[in-house]
Amino acid sequence: MAQEDVFKKVVSHCKEYGFVFPSSEIYDGLAAVYDYGQNGVELKNNIKQYWWQSMVLLHDNIVGIDSAIFMHPTIWKASGHVDAFNDPLIDNRDSKKRYRADVLIEDQIAKYDEKIDKEVAKAAKRFKENFNEEQYRTTSPKVLELQEKRDALHERYSKAMNAMDLDELRQIILDEEIVCPISGTRNWTEVRQFNLMFSTEMGSTADGSMKVYLRPETAQGIFVNYLNVQKTGRMKIPFGIAQIGKAFRNEIVARQFIFRMREFEQMEMQFFVKPGTELDWFKTWKETRLKWHKALGFGSENYRFHDHEKLAHYANAATDIEFLMPFGFKEVEGIHSRTNFDLSQHEKFSGKSIKYFDPELGESYTPYVIETSIGVDRMFLSVLSASYKEEQLENGETRVVLSLPPALAPVKLAVLPLVKKDGLPEKAREIVNELKFHFNTQYDEKDSIGKRYRRQDAIGTPFCVTVDHETLSDNCVTLRNRDTMKQERVPINQLNAIIADQVSLTSLLKKLI
Ligand code: GAP
Repeated sequence: MAQEDVFKKVVSHCKEYGFVFPSSEIYDGLAAVYDYGQNGVELKNNIKQYWWQSMVLLHDNIVGIDSAIFMHPTIWKASGHVDAFNDPLIDNRDSKKRYRADVLIEDQIAKYDEKIDKEVAKAAKRFKENFNEEQYRTTSPKVLELQEKRDALHERYSKAMNAMDLDELRQIILDEEIVCPISGTRNWTEVRQFNLMFSTEMGSTADGSMKVYLRPETAQGIFVNYLNVQKTGRMKIPFGIAQIGKAFRNEIVARQFIFRMREFEQMEMQFFVKPGTELDWFKTWKETRLKWHKALGFGSENYRFHDHEKLAHYANAATDIEFLMPFGFKEVEGIHSRTNFDLSQHEKFSGKSIKYFDPELGESYTPYVIETSIGVDRMFLSVLSASYKEEQLENGETRVVLSLPPALAPVKLAVLPLVKKDGLPEKAREIVNELKFHFNTQYDEKDSIGKRYRRQDAIGTPFCVTVDHETLSDNCVTLRNRDTMKQERVPINQLNAIIADQVSLTSLLKKLI
């Protein structure tokens, strides 16, 4: 199946099976805002639990907080968001559509990459087993020419972005003859800066209201609580503070479903360290976070690091963990060595000392910070895209199955009475009532058993049990495995022991140690 088709199918599957709905749909929706349905919220909560427990439960030097979305507006001045949280925008005069200039150029760079890959794939087909990819990439005149153009563009673009040279960004778009995908023309306006923060008024106008922002990241809630947590928790450096919460950005290029949203959720952890040790900790957190992703079992080849060439002025190292989405490798998580920029800025703007007294050194300093920042929604999309499968069965039918890691699946067990009579529904409900205290268990009696299995496969339920007439006498049920579709007869009183361990977060968390 073409990757484009996979993506379309994932989006419609999300809607059809209660994972994700467009927000305000009966009013024709609200762009780049989505709601999570009955299965989506369970999967999302499981992802959040996996992250939270891996941070707070498994590390005795990491604690969590839940700070407010509204914060004092000066915080966003101190953090640099008021002045610099901007995207460079450009309009096409014919289509009246607005684009991010940097995204137009990055897409152009990606086109060169695609062309190169196509050339390589063509040659691989032609030369078959004699093909040496590395040699071809370094000697083929066509590939070399494309590579040279690509690298020159990349260098020019990086320079322009580093200097935030808006005229140069526009000139690149003109020189590369980039056209508007809607109008097909090159009738571009100037490039302008656009701040991504949403703002609103707090307080009544009679009292004098104050402009406040919806937070564009959860991290600042951690920085401004650093002292509270350090003192009340008697935390010793190195230590971390974790938080999960909503963030808001007025994204202009909102596309690719829940990949880029205007309201989304972040899971961020700020790890406070002694100055000079930050690059070692950066390395440690890179490895720790990649291990967390890989433990889900989607295959190592689907992940890669993308180290930043253009560093924010406050960072001395930064990387993204990218995942192979149906639309290419994309950032799911950022890991940043943010120096002591944020704490120093809050010290300066608040006038309060935010120093740490290090008892071992006998001196005070402003801690350095390693940040790990992952979007819940992007993680959700990566999990769904990697799990969505269409399988050809021996009987010629196709089954759609979400091979979710069992610990993340919304429902762990479906209990299905073979028929809706003869006491089977009552027996099935008895099993549900017993097991629902251990894991998410669902009762389903509608339609044929085959259809019910398909429905559970489609939402990724790892196990189904069927209650039949024999169950009433032998107290055994047929247990069906989602992935193998194998069925076995097991005693009801052993169900919990067989299933609980396989679907628990604990078994996933143990892979991290
Ligand atoms: N505190 C650092 C920070 O916010 P970021 O790279 O801007 O860094 C971190 O965002 C993560 O948040 C990203 O890797 C991505 O997963 C998620 N994210 C950012 N913008 C998003 C958006 N508009 N929609 C969905 N997720 C987003």
